[in-house]
Amino acid sequence: MSDPVEQDALDRRVLDLANVSKSFGGVRALKGVDFTVRAGEIHCLAGENGSGKSTLIKLVSGVHAPDPGGRILMNGTAYERLTPPQARREGIQVIFQDLALFPNLSVAENIAFDHVLDGYASPVPLRRMRRTARAILDRLGFGIDLDAEVGRLSIAQRQIVAICRGLAADARLLFMDEPTASLTGREVDALLGLVERLRRDGLSIVFVSHRLDEVLGIADRVTVLRDGACVGVYPTQGMSGRRLAELMTGLTIEPGIVARAVPDDPVLRVAGLTRRGEYEDIAFMLRKGEVFGIVGPLGAGRTELALTLFGMNRPHAGTIEIAGRLVRFSDNRAAIAAGIAYLPEDRLTQGLNLPQPVGDNIVLSILDRLKRAFGFIPPKARRGIPAAWVERLKIKVPSLDHPVQTLSGGNQQRVVLAKWLATAPRVLILDSPTVGVDIGNKKGIYELIREIARDGVAVILITDEASEAFSTCDRVARMDGGRMIEQVVPGEISEEEFAGRVYAR
Ligand SMILES: Nc1ncnc2c1ncn2[C@@H]1O[C@H](COP(=O)(O)OP(=O)(O)OP(=O)(O)O)[C@@H](O)[C@H]1O
Ligand SMILES: [Mg+2]
Repeated sequence: MSDPVEQDALDRRVLDLANVSKSFGGVRALKGVDFTVRAGEIHCLAGENGSGKSTLIKLVSGVHAPDPGGRILMNGTAYERLTPPQARREGIQVIFQDLALFPNLSVAENIAFDHVLDGYASPVPLRRMRRTARAILDRLGFGIDLDAEVGRLSIAQRQIVAICRGLAADARLLFMDEPTASLTGREVDALLGLVERLRRDGLSIVFVSHRLDEVLGIADRVTVLRDGACVGVYPTQGMSGRRLAELMTGLTIEPGIVARAVPDDPVLRVAGLTRRGEYEDIAFMLRKGEVFGIVGPLGAGRTELALTLFGMNRPHAGTIEIAGRLVRFSDNRAAIAAGIAYLPEDRLTQGLNLPQPVGDNIVLSILDRLKRAFGFIPPKARRGIPAAWVERLKIKVPSLDHPVQTLSGGNQQRVVLAKWLATAPRVLILDSPTVGVDIGNKKGIYELIREIARDGVAVILITDEASEAFSTCDRVARMDGGRMIEQVVPGEISEEEFAGRVYAR
């Protein structure tokens, strides 16, 4: 028999939203959504890109006001709308998708920021701040330098700092908008372990993630959003990844091996490439129309290698040949001129000019060329080119004039992709292109990559998911500790076997 007191505690709702809606101009981001979080539960918010997950979080944390007609109950108190300080007082903390950190401040300053603001008058007591930050980092088990400037940290480290900041501000209900998107397997495990511990301490956690296995592994219940409406609330017990994907998308997703033999027409040849401390003695060849995967954990040297190929950092030794010609890039303009395009992993800060319209972002990288060809930028090209890419990549945006920052995370990712595809590259390097992209749209991006390759572009796909490489690439290399350990053909070796080698620790 269940204990009635315990049952009561289980049913206690820390958050209870009824019929909340939110419109941005003509876009109805949320349509009459009900959403509850119980005390001490891990609740997942699932839905495709643009389904309204981040918007819901912004209503609860006071960033946006909801449309009239709904109700927000928080720890039993009713609000028509919340201000950010009210939300903080109710114990709400959010780790936003874009992390919202201060890149020019130190780790300690970022972590203790709200804490210091709320608790103590200025000037900021440095020692107390450092102690707070240190304690939180230790609790997480991450050894990050307190004095490091956040802008110089890796994405994974920045993510950890953002999580620490939420914890430092005494969260009781912690929202995490895709906290694991850029973490490695080991870091994800550490984070999920921490989330479990926080729950045992009585915290409630709302988790947004596009990795369905992760969701099902950790959450008690899942609320599914589709096009701004609530599809339903489900216990994760007994729910399969496939069923959840169907609820989110209405599609069935069945990845299969697509590797094929490509005619031997090398576009890129790399030999003995070395950049000390980052990668060593890298050799591989890439053919026209081929998709070449590079899989490995964060820190394997994949991104550093990509940056060299894109002219952003110089190798200490080795050679790069493009179409049979030795090249030495002095900067990335030289690499672009040689036909190399690079989609960075940090889509939110490196790839885009956020306040600028979607259309301008897409033509950004070809403006020079258009200018050179015509002496000015023909208005038809300025609109026609982005319009075609928006359609081809199914980017959800009401018009080309909308600033990129109003798009959902997954749609921003596709704007970056469009921007680089518009340059008609010979070699396209995609660094983790589906991080933060939902499963339905991931499939769309895989199809798009195959299509781009069929058009003759040689594609390098950097990913930390073996499954992603196996369902997209013709050949897959494994990197670890700065070395390219092996190259395999999907199908000649099973995905499970390959994944076992990648994730072996
Ligand atoms: N400030 C804004 N102005 C205009 N439209 C917005 C704004 N914020 C969000 N939207 C729109 O609301 C819809 C929902 O966006 P939201 O960011 O909530 O999606 P999401 O579910 O978090 O998606 P993702 O998984 O891609 O992060 C999208 O169509 C988006 O373009
Ligand atoms: Mg979002």
